[in-house]
Amino acid sequence: MKNREKIYPARNLRRKLRGAAALLASALLFLSGCSSRISAPEEDDMRTPVDENLIVVGVSQLGSESVWRTANTASIQEVFTKEKGYFLIFDNARQKQENQIKALRSFISQEVDYIIFSPLMEEGWDTVLQEAKDAGIPVILIDRMVDVEDPSLYSTWIGSDFEKEGTEAGRILEKCLEGQGRQEEDINIVVLKGTEGSSPTIGRTEGFGQIVALHENWKILEQADGEFTTAKAREEMSRLLTKYEDIDVLISQNDDMTFGALDALRAAGRSPESGDDIIILSFDGTRKALELVESGVIYADLECNPQQGEYLEEVIQKLEAGQEIERIYYVPEKIFTRDNVSRYIEDRTY
Ligand code: AHR
Repeated sequence: MKNREKIYPARNLRRKLRGAAALLASALLFLSGCSSRISAPEEDDMRTPVDENLIVVGVSQLGSESVWRTANTASIQEVFTKEKGYFLIFDNARQKQENQIKALRSFISQEVDYIIFSPLMEEGWDTVLQEAKDAGIPVILIDRMVDVEDPSLYSTWIGSDFEKEGTEAGRILEKCLEGQGRQEEDINIVVLKGTEGSSPTIGRTEGFGQIVALHENWKILEQADGEFTTAKAREEMSRLLTKYEDIDVLISQNDDMTFGALDALRAAGRSPESGDDIIILSFDGTRKALELVESGVIYADLECNPQQGEYLEEVIQKLEAGQEIERIYYVPEKIFTRDNVSRYIEDRTY
């Protein structure tokens, strides 16, 4: 407890103020004899005596663009419940950075104990994170990273090793081509990228690019922006199929985009179901994609683990106990291929 006071004096002051406000509200209620001019605090009011002991967590989610994102949101909401001692203020920024900045400012003015947020893109957060720091509110990043001048603007980051996911995809493609005896052939690749400037897009592109650089016969025809959504990927893949006759490989930076690309392939008369028309590598590991790995439509799927709530809570509990935390936590992830996928499908909830 002593430690905590040392690390987060502003937060302890906020808690004391919340406690005082609650006492004052109770006293006023008592003195007024429940007069009609003073209403009892709402159940969800942060300043009720009940909430005084809860840890107030403001979560800014970047949107709901994918199946992965929905699972990620559920994993956070499952953890921060009143039963577990938390008061969760959740905001969905609907894919707009200005909405996220607004949400963070609102968390700061509500004096939350912790800010948790998954930034849409890496740049543009210095000012608002400085405001959080000045208010003494620790910021925990999940899923995506920020690119800020001062690294002390956030306490820790919990998420996936996106660059590793990209290099693994390259290594899997090497093995696949080797297995098909095509390692010397010219290989034409198209990439469907996710949100411009976001960590998974940057990391997966960089990682895969490192392996491409090792193969003179691998040619990236185009990297198109599919925005991590099925609709945009469908549109972009249709365009790519019209522009390039000979696409051997599709690297799709998430499963939702893969579903859109598959629609486009079918519409263009290609037969992805045959498994030998085009090599598809996808990311996330959603149930529907795993089924497509099992049936051979997707060659391999690199898991991006959305179940980050439990790690978040662990970090908050450590901070509450005044313990040291790491700067980076990578969540565990698997690679799904036809050889191992069957055993994972049944338990997949998203
Ligand atoms: O940041 C994680 C990525 O964002 C997932 O791969 C994707 O599905 C999501 O939209």
